[in-house]
Amino acid sequence: MNDQFELIADGLAGNGYAVVDHFLSKQEVDSILSLGLFEEESLHQFRKAGIGKTQGLHVNENIRGDYIQWLDIKTAPTPVKVYLNRLTELALFLNRALYLSLKDHEVHMTVYPKGSFYKRHLDQFKGDDHRKLSVICYLNHDWTEADGGQLRMYLPDEARDFAPIAGRLICFRSDQIEHEVLAARRDRISLTGWLLDQSMDMRF
Ligand code: OGA
Ligand code: MN
Repeated sequence: MNDQFELIADGLAGNGYAVVDHFLSKQEVDSILSLGLFEEESLHQFRKAGIGKTQGLHVNENIRGDYIQWLDIKTAPTPVKVYLNRLTELALFLNRALYLSLKDHEVHMTVYPKGSFYKRHLDQFKGDDHRKLSVICYLNHDWTEADGGQLRMYLPDEARDFAPIAGRLICFRSDQIEHEVLAARRDRISLTGWLLDQSMDMRF
């Protein structure tokens, strides 16, 4: 566990991002999947993700096509809590290793239905810089190149693509790394979150 945290800290310090496989073990991924939260009959609990308050759904559709459902650590089922608690440990580790002052996280479940994508963007909102690190953990077993849906990160010298394979965690600086989700050719699911430098209770 600590080895993974160290790899993440090193990656963030050196390159602004890190990719770690088996952040969730196969069993941990399967425990989450077996809750049925991403199954057909649960999808009505997801809502179309937005891109700000002013754009309509029409514009939105050309920018991002994912559906989300926010998680609450207090009511989340145990397998999800295992993940959220690990993110808390990661944040506390990064605070010590990189002298950050992360105080909370916000995480949603995400579904990109077949054919959807999210165009190039940065994760910090205008006028709100509390999202310091983006953290995404993927839950897709048997994902192949042909399934598309890679996360493309725009790094200083090149763009790099990473497949959304089950158990993989990708963490990057929310203020620096522009990225996009390439069109997925099958449904693509993940837990998408941000480590914040402000506690959620104080946000509003
Ligand atoms: C996002 C995002 C990337 C991914 O939700 O802001 O960029 O790989 N997600 O799911
Ligand atoms: Mn993003």
